[in-house]
Parts: sequence; C-alpha cells; structure tokens
Amino acid sequence: MERITELNRRYGIPHQVSFSQEPNGFVFVDVTNPQATARIALQGAQIIHWSPKGEAPVIWLSEAASFLPGKSIRGGAPVCWPWFGPHETQRDFPAHGFARTTLWEISGVESRPDGTTKLVFHLPESATPKNQWPHASTLESHITIGAHLEVDLVTRNQGNHPLTLGQALHTYFQVGDIRTVRLHGLDGCSYLDKVDGGVCKVQQGAVNFTQETDRIYLGTTHNVVIEDPQMQRQIHIAKRGSASTVVWNPWIEKAAKMGDLGENGYLHMVCVENANAAEDVVMLAPETDHHLWVRYSTTALTST
Ligand code: BG6
Repeated sequence: MERITELNRRYGIPHQVSFSQEPNGFVFVDVTNPQATARIALQGAQIIHWSPKGEAPVIWLSEAASFLPGKSIRGGAPVCWPWFGPHETQRDFPAHGFARTTLWEISGVESRPDGTTKLVFHLPESATPKNQWPHASTLESHITIGAHLEVDLVTRNQGNHPLTLGQALHTYFQVGDIRTVRLHGLDGCSYLDKVDGGVCKVQQGAVNFTQETDRIYLGTTHNVVIEDPQMQRQIHIAKRGSASTVVWNPWIEKAAKMGDLGENGYLHMVCVENANAAEDVVMLAPETDHHLWVRYSTTALTST
C-alpha cells in the first residue's frame, strides 16, 4: 500500500488520476476527465478501458480476463513488442514479446488545457529479459485520454547496430455482434491468411466475419473504420508508423479452447491491430526513434 500512496502522491490528480492495487499486487491507473474515462494496468501499460463521455466502452475487456502478474490480460490494448506473434527462431520465447507481461513504470501525468489527460509510461531496463532481447533500446508509451484515445509507442535504438523490430498495438474493440460488423479501408490489400496456412490473398471489398479470422494485411499504412450497425457507431482508427494491419477474431471453437474469452465473448470483440509484422518489421538505425502512433475515435452510424 505504501507504493500506492507514493504513486498517488507523485502522479495522482484529485478527481482525475488515481492509482489502486489488487490484493495480488496488480496496479491500475484510473482516469476521469470531462471527455472520457479510462483504466490502465501498470503491467504492460495496458489500456483496459476507454469510454468517451456518455458512450459505451470502445475497448473490449473479456469478462473472464484474469489479472495475474506475468500473465497476459485478455482484452484491452496489449502492447506486442519487440516481436509480433511467435518469435522468428526461438519458439520458447513468449508470443508477442515480453512487453505486455512485464511491469512498466509511470514517468509523467499531465492534465492538459484542452481537457485531455496525458500519461507516459516506460519499460524499465531491469524488466527486459537480456537473453531474449540483448539490445540497448528504450520503449515508452504516451497515452492521451479524451474524446479521442491516442497512443504513441516510442522505441529508441541506443545501440551501435540496426535493430529489427516487430510490434503491434493489439487492440480489442467492443462490437455489438461480430456477425454484422464490417471493416472498411482494406479493399484490394494483400494479406497473409493465418487460418489458411499463411497463404497470401487479396481483400475484396469490406472485411466481414463469418468464421475464425486471423490476417496480416501487408503494406497498409492508411486508416480503417469499423462499422457496427448493432451499436450504431463507427470506430475510426488512424495511424502513423505502422505498415501492417492485423485483423483477428478467434470464433467459436478457438475461443472455447482459450478459456479466458468469456461466454460468447468472441461475438462482442474484434481485434484491429496497428502493427509492423511479417515482412513489414522495422529496421531501426542506431540512435534513432520509431513512433507507432494511433488515434481512435467514434461517430454515430446513421441509417440511410
Ligand atoms: C493475434 C494473432 O494478433 O493475436 C493470433 O494474429 C493470436 O494468431 C492472437 O491467436 C492472440 O494471441 P494471444 O497470444 O494473446 O493469445
């Protein structure tokens, strides 16, 4: 509890930013401002809730999510870093890297004149398993909470050699019913179809969901929109510094095997991940930064 008292003393803002702790040590930061509410777990600097004021949550969190130190949280916006998916050569390294399951530290909180709240987190050097990532680098996440949610994931190569970096903001979006959702903006784009042995295909029209979907759309640097007729809203996903868009829904059987997706959880989520994966990994030159920046916003979907 001493730690929470210290975090609140240093970074808390009355009625806006507060820290709390579960009995197992899990620490959360809660943010409330005139534009939105949000919750972030210190483990993984993982956003697990964001609702613009008066709106249903935009970020989905599984009702069966567990909050256990060192275990990935099902839902929210996990940070996959410094590789995406399984490690290229070391199959015993954790899927999606180690950043999502390690404890980050907070380095700054700011209540901004425009009514938003900005939080900055960093992955401490001591949290980096040197056997998995023997490189001199830093990782920060700059999160701005308001009517829009912005995340700027900043990697710095502090070494003398170029780094190969894979990454994703693996965001789970809340939808009314996945079977009615359409994802716009990927028409004509090539993708690796992971449920069909990784073969390369070309998207025709909007993406819709009728079965397990696990795709890496390559060379996609543009914005996409989730159209959700049930919730009568569109979720706009803008990005910079990301060349891949990963689209994932496990569907019924895989969800049942996963055990932490909740009953029928797959119906109410879709992952649209702004990533640099497969052949889109980033080559980061010494003493340079890479920014993976995203902004989420919503608009009402008016029936025509
Ligand atoms: C997606 C991958 O990004 O994450 C899927 O494309 C994977 O293949 C999914 O199943 C969930 O991964 P995890 O490690 O959180 O269960």
